[in-house]
Amino acid sequence: MKTITRSFSVLSIISSFVGNANSTHLINGRRMYLSYRKMSTKLKPKVFVTRRVPEDGINLLRQKCEVTQWDRDEAIPRHEILNGVKGVDGLFCLLTDKIDEEVLSTAGENLRVVGTMSVGYDHVDLSACRKRGIPVGYTPDVLTSATAELTMALLLTVSRRIQEGVTAVKDGSWGTWAPLWLCGQGLEGATVGVVGLGRIGFAVAQRLKPFGVSKILYTGQSEKASSAQLPAEYVTFDKLLNDSDFVIGCCALNSKTTGLFNADTFKKMKKNAIFINTSRGGLVNQDDLYTALKNGDILAAGLDVTSPEPLPTSHPLLTLENCVVLPHIGSATLKARNAMSELCARNIVAALYGEPIPCQVK
Ligand code: DGY
Repeated sequence: MKTITRSFSVLSIISSFVGNANSTHLINGRRMYLSYRKMSTKLKPKVFVTRRVPEDGINLLRQKCEVTQWDRDEAIPRHEILNGVKGVDGLFCLLTDKIDEEVLSTAGENLRVVGTMSVGYDHVDLSACRKRGIPVGYTPDVLTSATAELTMALLLTVSRRIQEGVTAVKDGSWGTWAPLWLCGQGLEGATVGVVGLGRIGFAVAQRLKPFGVSKILYTGQSEKASSAQLPAEYVTFDKLLNDSDFVIGCCALNSKTTGLFNADTFKKMKKNAIFINTSRGGLVNQDDLYTALKNGDILAAGLDVTSPEPLPTSHPLLTLENCVVLPHIGSATLKARNAMSELCARNIVAALYGEPIPCQVK
């Protein structure tokens, strides 16, 4: 672990000399002129960062905090998180870090904020944080466009069979131009179902419109007033599955959505349905998806997220031509990742300095 600053105490006491001051004092009845340097004592909170992250966030943190960091691109091993969090005031984590009771109790009583550089927070035990009065910061909005764009890219890759086309060019199986070869499905005139019309779901729906889709359906916990702008129609989950040519998973992972897409739900979809998931792998029962794709219950699928991540190269889904799997790159633009890092840092600094947290999980 690269230690950026050395001290690992609960709160480091930074003594800084902030300039000279002069005054006269009575000493033993004689007025003495004394020159001294005024000393101010500042407390700098300690923050542990669990990965190498874009500089914008780290620079901001360094201005206000004492930063210790797992400064690598590889995920931090569990024992290193447990080691790193001891005694810190703030924790800057990623979606790959499980922040549970053990991490919180190992951190100890100083821990005053957990900030995750992600919009998803299913990896953070919220109730354990709540019990300890620890707010959780996250990074919505700044990655919405990037993720919606990637969702569209994946959808078009699957529906227009781009992966198969690229492979054919490279492996020499590209023969003559043929009228029926690699024909896919277009979006024009299609009915698209968005499961979860949150920020990203909405942004995906906006991007679908210029492609000339005939109808956008959505489902979720409740009807959204903003859907009128699209427009999109609020329907039951079953109706969405039944009517959609494309089904896009955009909802958060929680106890209600875990395994939402399974043998049952794939059977309710159209035989020509294309399923896309850019949210969390846990939404999908992957064995059931494999069977549905193999048996032709649905036409094709595109996944930017899997369970586990990385998906083992031996996974059966990777043997299918009608399944495109990406390595969780929805928010992977430099602009989005910088903004995520910065927002995560701002959340942490605000909490540590008693200011309102810009984006706090409610
Ligand atoms: C998130 O932020 O939760 C995405 O999955 C990765 O950017």
